[in-house]
Amino acid sequence: MAKLCIALDTNLSQALELLSSLKGYPLVFKVGYKLFISHHRTITDKVKEKGFELFLDLKLHDIPNTVKEGVLSARDLGADYLTLHISSGREALKQAVEVKGKLRLLGVSLLTSLEEEDLKDIGVCEEREKQVLNLARLALESGLEGIVCSGKEVRFLKERLERPFLAVVPGIRLEGEPPEDQKRVVSFEEALQTGADMLVMGRSILRAENPIKRVEELLLRIA
Ligand code: C5P
Repeated sequence: MAKLCIALDTNLSQALELLSSLKGYPLVFKVGYKLFISHHRTITDKVKEKGFELFLDLKLHDIPNTVKEGVLSARDLGADYLTLHISSGREALKQAVEVKGKLRLLGVSLLTSLEEEDLKDIGVCEEREKQVLNLARLALESGLEGIVCSGKEVRFLKERLERPFLAVVPGIRLEGEPPEDQKRVVSFEEALQTGADMLVMGRSILRAENPIKRVEELLLRIA
């Protein structure tokens, strides 16, 4: 069954409130820049203490040795998942895998906020799907467990990649919600139908009138 991951892109008090209210639910909590830079262990320890899986979304993108050191620190924090940009290159991915232990490494292919036009801006001449496939292939050859991609690409990747992987899908919008800064968005049902293994959702939950009720509804829809 697919997992629901809540992106804690919020302030510390809302994050702590959510962790307390949702204790016992089968959820993954994603800690990204906003909370990690200001509150690091306060928030990561709390996610673990409440019994949830900890997804550290730091999207490492650096030279091999620096990436490796980052992976070791994420391991020490007790993270279950860590993101790194596949475009860090083969050697960085290899060194990350060598030290990862039980930590599951998720390779970011192409940010869901980018589409065809943006690729040209950053000098990528490859077609979007082909670029995502090339990066995903490199990630799996290097031993990463998962690929972060748009729901628009999950089926395409699953049909073409030789080995199974965890498809992690952000950029999900509920009916009537605006995409805001995201571009390659899919609906919740589309993400499920296409074979996403983990659905990452931030603002749709954080800004709901009743975030707890929204999470309960989403979990029911997954089940
Ligand atoms: O609020 P929203 O549901 O758009 O949040 C999506 C979350 O997923 C954000 O925390 C964002 O950083 C993260 N993410 C993403 N696209 C990626 C990787 C991670 O949107 N490729």
